[in-house]
Amino acid sequence: MSRIAYVNGRYLPHRTAAVHIEDRGYQFADGVYEVVPVQRGRLIDEDLHLDRLEFSLGELEIAPPMERRALQLVLREVLRRNGVARGILYLQVTRGVAPRDHKFPLVARPSLVITAKRLKPVPAKYLEEGVGVITLPDLRWKRCDIKTIALLPNVLGKQRAVEEGAYEAWQIDPEGMVTEGTSTNAWIVTKDRKIVTRPLGHEILPGVTRRALLDLLRTTDLTLEERSFALSEAMEAAEAFLTSSSVFLLPITRIDGEPIASGRPGDFAKRLRQLYVDHAERQAGSV
Ligand code: PDD
Repeated sequence: MSRIAYVNGRYLPHRTAAVHIEDRGYQFADGVYEVVPVQRGRLIDEDLHLDRLEFSLGELEIAPPMERRALQLVLREVLRRNGVARGILYLQVTRGVAPRDHKFPLVARPSLVITAKRLKPVPAKYLEEGVGVITLPDLRWKRCDIKTIALLPNVLGKQRAVEEGAYEAWQIDPEGMVTEGTSTNAWIVTKDRKIVTRPLGHEILPGVTRRALLDLLRTTDLTLEERSFALSEAMEAAEAFLTSSSVFLLPITRIDGEPIASGRPGDFAKRLRQLYVDHAERQAGSV
């Protein structure tokens, strides 16, 4: 089945789908995006993603390209046309096409692009052995809670991680505290069995997987602490892991080449991944 992209009201062949060169997303990164997991052809945590999209648009004063109900129909149509059972849906809204000028254009219709992609299951090796992260200073702007398409520090960070044989880069704030990965939220489990993740604020993206996992955790007897943690604390932790819509949860077993505890994925990461997978399966309607 050849891929189809939705671009401003039209369903186009993915390989030739395009927006104008004066789209403000292209010229200024003046736009926002969402990545929504797809399981058994269903969108997971759709409302949370659409709530975050509306928040991001609101913060940048970009008008929603259409009403939520209509958008939901288009999202389903993109999934259907692409036959995606397991993967991700990508949605991007920019301020639209206008002659290049920094200030907002007087007239511009927001551009809406939606694509869907199949994803292979997470490699078994990542789950059996865990992944490595490197650490870098957090070079990003002061509104990382907005999911903008301006991702240059994230792109450079991820590239550095890959060049150093790691999966992800954890970004570190000036106080030595971990903010988040370049495309994932960061977590540790302390030696006294507390699950720790940074509280929401302008410094991190309010991850939907993070939010869903926190809600799930509150139904268990596990102890949770939403607080910042230092890189030095993470190095001494019992476990570390990351979350995102595309991989759900991966155990981290090395930070800057140093093993975390035994250097093997821990029980918490396994249990919490399963908790989230079950949640996604429930929403997908299979259990
Ligand atoms: N990234 N932090 C950052 C900086 C992110 O870009 C992402 C998501 C997350 C995790 O958020 P969520 O659980 O809602 O996926 C945290 C997506 C997957 C991406 O850019 O591809």
